[in-house]
Amino acid sequence: MKIEEVRSTAKAQRISAHSHVKGLGLEENGSAIPQAAGLVGQEEAREAAGIIVDMIKMKKMAGRAILFAGPPGTGKTAIALAMAQELGSKVPFCPMVGSEVYSSEIKKTEVLMENFRRAIGLRIKETKEIYEGEVTEITPLETESPLGGYGKTISHVIIGLKTSKGTKQLKLDPSIYESLQKEKVVDGDVIYIEANSGAVKRQGRSDAFATEFDLEAEDYVPLPKGEVHKKKEIVQDVTLHDLDIANARPQGGQDILSMLGQLMKPKKTEITDKLRKEINKVVNRYIDQGVAELVPGVLFIDEVHMLDLETFTYLHRALESSLAPIVIFATNRGRCAIRGTEDIVSAHGIPMDLLDRLVIIKTSPYTKEEMLNILKIRATTEGLQLETEALTELSEVGERTTLRYAVQLLTPASITAKINGRTVIKKEDVDEVCGLFMDAKSSAKMLSENDSKYMK
Ligand SMILES: Nc1ncnc2c1ncn2[C@@H]1O[C@H](COP(=O)(O)OP(=O)(O)OP(=O)(O)O)[C@@H](O)[C@H]1O
Ligand SMILES: [Mg+2]
Repeated sequence: MKIEEVRSTAKAQRISAHSHVKGLGLEENGSAIPQAAGLVGQEEAREAAGIIVDMIKMKKMAGRAILFAGPPGTGKTAIALAMAQELGSKVPFCPMVGSEVYSSEIKKTEVLMENFRRAIGLRIKETKEIYEGEVTEITPLETESPLGGYGKTISHVIIGLKTSKGTKQLKLDPSIYESLQKEKVVDGDVIYIEANSGAVKRQGRSDAFATEFDLEAEDYVPLPKGEVHKKKEIVQDVTLHDLDIANARPQGGQDILSMLGQLMKPKKTEITDKLRKEINKVVNRYIDQGVAELVPGVLFIDEVHMLDLETFTYLHRALESSLAPIVIFATNRGRCAIRGTEDIVSAHGIPMDLLDRLVIIKTSPYTKEEMLNILKIRATTEGLQLETEALTELSEVGERTTLRYAVQLLTPASITAKINGRTVIKKEDVDEVCGLFMDAKSSAKMLSENDSKYMK
């Protein structure tokens, strides 16, 4: 099995609607602060979520499932994402929406399985032979290209590495020069090179170059101690899905021919059940040997009522497996028919037997004050200024409709304000956009009133 250089396949999260949420905003003792970390109110659900986060951190939660249930716009998605923030980057958190399983190319169960494995982390500790230090020089040495012509190729690269003990000059293979460039290594960076594979890892910039700026994107690390050439314990965090991908891909070389070969075969290499079983076996062995440690993460399935009976059944079984993450569901449905069945009506559209395993956290509608505070936070994140009356008006709109609708009116209102030559949003802007747009409830009302005028 190939472990080095496993690329992370973590999904980039699209959370722009929730970008103000920075965490659950709880006290040390676990009680919710009325307004903190971008969240307002919904205290009970936040405290419950906090307990779950603690259980996940203590690794007491694998294979369990939680359901957030509540009316639309009551913060279910927001709180689930806040949990991800609390868990930090070391615990995998894989968000998906129920409808993602429907694709014409991939089986429903395959999509689920892939996401399941994205949510299970593995921390691998390996003692490796490495060269580590602060880069003092990188000199590629060129020779005439063996193909003739004017081209030059790099025959080898000289690199100087400094530690607190001294400096060492290494003569390296040109392929390592490529990895150096990929990692954007320059003089003054602290790096290590794995002796066996030649993989280069940039750890950060050396302390000695730290500037007096308060805010900087750089990570500064101290000058490594000891010899340049040494054995060191390296910790790597990967997910089972990363391992699947790394082992499924045809292991081509770095040369142009095999790269082209990969381009011409854009079809995704299939990850077979057999491959997964093999990987599980190796992983389990590593865990037994103490080389690796399992980090069960979170699979978050939003809008879970979009799943059908087949996927629910599959999920139920997958939850029983020994390598299962914690699954968090969210839904705004009450009693409704389970998808994929004719008439089996169940609470939240989830089959009874799965429902039976769940711990349910409920969210309830916000008060006007809470809506006002959330709108205020959203306005600040979006860089908008509102008069107090405009805010009050919007929160009233939110009370009549949903919070989400009120939040969505912020941007249009800012545009009408701009058209009227103002930067501050006034009540009249809010009234104007309210006249222009409709929310779901009033639209439904209008439809039922003017039913005869529409095409059937
Ligand atoms: N307690 C809260 N504090 C701050 N912002 C919140 C809070 N609750 C919800 N929001 C924000 O309000 C908007 C709507 O909330 P969210 O999408 O989480 O609702 P939901 O319960 O998932 O709704 P749905 O059932 O329709 O999916 C989002 O922009 C969210 O970030
Ligand atoms: Mg939601």
